[in-house]
Amino acid sequence: MSYIGGSFEFNPDLIYAPEVEDVNDQIGISKDKVYWTKSGRSSFALALKHWQKKLTNGWLLMPDYQCWDVLSVFENIDKKFIAVNEDLKIEISDLNKFLKDKNLHGVVLIDYFGLTDLEPYIECIKSARPDVLIIVDAVQAFLSIVLSENLYKGADAVISSPRKFLPIPDGGLIVFKNKKPKYNFPKNNLDDQISLYVSAGILKDVIFKSSFDDAAFSCIESTYLNLFDRHRKLFNNDIGQISNLSLEIIKRTNLKSLAEKRLKNFKFISDAFKDNKYENFLTPLNKDFSGPGIIFPLRVNSKHRDPLREYLKSKGIFCPVHWPILQGQIPQLGKSSMLLSKEILGLPIDQRYHENDLMKIKKEIDKYFRRKSNESL
Ligand SMILES: Cc1ncc(COP(=O)(O)O)c(C=O)c1O
Repeated sequence: MSYIGGSFEFNPDLIYAPEVEDVNDQIGISKDKVYWTKSGRSSFALALKHWQKKLTNGWLLMPDYQCWDVLSVFENIDKKFIAVNEDLKIEISDLNKFLKDKNLHGVVLIDYFGLTDLEPYIECIKSARPDVLIIVDAVQAFLSIVLSENLYKGADAVISSPRKFLPIPDGGLIVFKNKKPKYNFPKNNLDDQISLYVSAGILKDVIFKSSFDDAAFSCIESTYLNLFDRHRKLFNNDIGQISNLSLEIIKRTNLKSLAEKRLKNFKFISDAFKDNKYENFLTPLNKDFSGPGIIFPLRVNSKHRDPLREYLKSKGIFCPVHWPILQGQIPQLGKSSMLLSKEILGLPIDQRYHENDLMKIKKEIDKYFRRKSNESL
């Protein structure tokens, strides 16, 4: 069975490919403003180090719908949470209340799925409180940065994670509004992580290209999964630069054409769900959403989200959940965030897929809901 979704894998062809363009030219940002780091978290750690004094003398505002794993980077900083609504938007009136507190020293804004317009918040913060730092979490919007110039204009720093969009072992990004601060990065030790990633990719290639009996197949597949898991667990909050292998792969990748492919896929699947035949099960998300984002967010009735996810998995379609709620986080969550965490299912729309793959996803979802509708008759 061919799979849809799941991690990007290394393949030696990636480094045999000819160079396309320098990495900074590809994202259209001057090298004086950007550091390529090993992950999104690593970029956040760098931002916090740079603005440590300012941020530890006050508190930081963050949206209550977010990737909870990232919070450990902000451990030593006082934080408050602002609620997002069901359209994944912050109410400007709520924001204005927080801005009245002189001890507010920074705000993190999140570009959800690479589909959110953050301009109104940036403008609101900078006009009321030009002293407040704005850090944009554009981890899910790496290819939006490639397609749009001047995105998040006015933010003090923008953080992204190319590793979530490309078959690279590591890779994060931080873009400063002004000239980047000087920073002496420690020597990287990504060797173990790179070896695990490269080996996993090669094994996956073997699985695809050869035929095995069941026992051999399951041995190779479990080794592959184990390598991937070990690679993922080695990510931490340390500040570090991107590996040379990741840079080489990015240089040899046409980012603009990947971004256009994703955007096309996003529009295709968005149109496919427009009719919403299953309104008892699906709630349309914000209609303004469009972009070469990380996934297509489908909003599924909470009773069906996880069973649908399992059903799709049994058909070889792997859909991520952004983000499962961790027990410790419940007190910080507003009503809408709690609901969205239980309802959103990410449909894969990345550059590996074509219209027939996307149609397969749509057909399987229809099949699941048709069955459920018949059962409830
Ligand atoms: C919104 C958001 N911010 C930050 C991160 C952390 O990025 P990284 O895994 O590259 O450290 C993630 C990871 O999934 C994320 O979804």
